[in-house]
Amino acid sequence: MRAIQQDRYGGPEVLRLTEVPDPEPIPTEVLVRIVAAGVNPIDGKTRSGGGFAPVVGPPPFIPGWDLSGVVAETGYGVTRFRPGDEVYGLAFFPRRAGTYAEYISVPSRQLARKPATVGHVPAAALPLVGLTAWQLVEAADVRPGQRVLIHAAAGGVGHLAVQIAKARGAYVIGTARTERHAFLRELGADETVDYTTIRFEDAVDQVDVVVDLVGGDTRLRSLDVLGRGGLLIPVPRGEPDPTGPAAKRGIRVLPIIVEPDHVGLAGLAAMVDAGALRVSVTATRPLAEAADVHRAMEAGGAVGKTVLVVDPAQAG
Ligand SMILES: NC(=O)c1ccc[n+]([C@@H]2O[C@H](COP(=O)([O-])OP(=O)(O)OC[C@H]3O[C@@H](n4cnc5c(N)ncnc54)[C@H](OP(=O)(O)O)[C@@H]3O)[C@@H](O)[C@H]2O)c1
Repeated sequence: MRAIQQDRYGGPEVLRLTEVPDPEPIPTEVLVRIVAAGVNPIDGKTRSGGGFAPVVGPPPFIPGWDLSGVVAETGYGVTRFRPGDEVYGLAFFPRRAGTYAEYISVPSRQLARKPATVGHVPAAALPLVGLTAWQLVEAADVRPGQRVLIHAAAGGVGHLAVQIAKARGAYVIGTARTERHAFLRELGADETVDYTTIRFEDAVDQVDVVVDLVGGDTRLRSLDVLGRGGLLIPVPRGEPDPTGPAAKRGIRVLPIIVEPDHVGLAGLAAMVDAGALRVSVTATRPLAEAADVHRAMEAGGAVGKTVLVVDPAQAG
């Protein structure tokens, strides 16, 4: 099969189109013919030797965790799918997966039926960011009327977290640059703050839950808007660790790493099909251009998610 493989850690130029043997499903697994693969910031971090590189293990490997495609074959004992079913999922995260390819074999319970009302491209953009948003809202136990502040609300995870928190009845405040405020309002955000012109802690207070999708000093400054009993959810891993200062103020900290989960995927698909969840894809590129997609993602300033199209005939 055709696949993007990297033979060493490094910049986007290490992503090369090549031919590798087709995977074969073991019992419990489903062989998926991939139509589209979502690209996420963690793909780039891992490519360069950071992110989950220690978990993925040394190159060569095929990057990528998000996929949407069609079941080609089911391994022994799989009951949930048949050849021809349209599925989507987050494969093996954070272990080595390889969705920048024509085929992947995935445990059946890491897949769910693709949302019926959208094509493979939006479906491929959804698993990692959608499950992150789903699982963090669930972990925070967001309740009606709670004030939820989401940093980087217009980004991949953020724009879905806004909609899922709203669906649970929260009052949602999102930070993003002004150009993206109309988008956030359309998604249901109640308040928007331009983090480039205003210190968010001067504009917002009395927050019950902060979803920090930025890290760095945003994480520590977020403690100023949370009251005693409030909750901070740090999403990107790494320093600074807010646990000590948070504990002194009676604030809980709940770091989260997204996990493959077919129940969450089915929940996301149901919301999409009910018209209650919109996933924003701003660009599609052919599989062979994965390096350029990583370059654009890392140059910054790119708006929204990009999806790699593996099978243009099926992508719609
Ligand atoms: N723990 C996990 O399992 C997990 C899962 C998913 C993602 N992540 C991590 O979470 C982070 C966000 O992921 P993503 O996919 O949503 O990224 P993304 O789509 O690239 O969105 C990032 C957005 O951050 C905004 N931003 C930058 N600096 C900001 C600041 N100081 N304050 C507020 N917003 C700021 C920018 O929005 P504007 O355009 O509005 O300026 C940018 O579009 C990444 O570091 C990713 O690796 C972790």
